[in-house]
Amino acid sequence: MSNNITVIDRAGSPSQVEWEPEQTLMEALRDNDFPLLASCGGTASCATCHVYLEPQVVSGLGERSEDEIELLEEAEGFDAETSRLSCQVAHAQSLDGITVTLAPEE
Ligand code: FES
Repeated sequence: MSNNITVIDRAGSPSQVEWEPEQTLMEALRDNDFPLLASCGGTASCATCHVYLEPQVVSGLGERSEDEIELLEEAEGFDAETSRLSCQVAHAQSLDGITVTLAPEE
């Protein structure tokens, strides 16, 4: 079943979008025409898919990989509690209804 999520764009405007089970969060954002470069295609090596999730969502997702932490720490607007690479966030039913905020462009 697809998730319904709220995406806040870089101008601060919210929209509701569908996140299909076979997509990573990055793919869902890109396929819904949000301006995510995702230049590495989802291999955790560019940080252009940087988003903010609610702190309780981030803590429920489990540990970030070393690669992800390293990239995020160098990313524009890094926030230790809320930053994630959206290409590293797999679809899960428990993520229905979350809010995703696009990080500043790299
Ligand atoms: S798409 Fe490059 S790190 Fe996510």
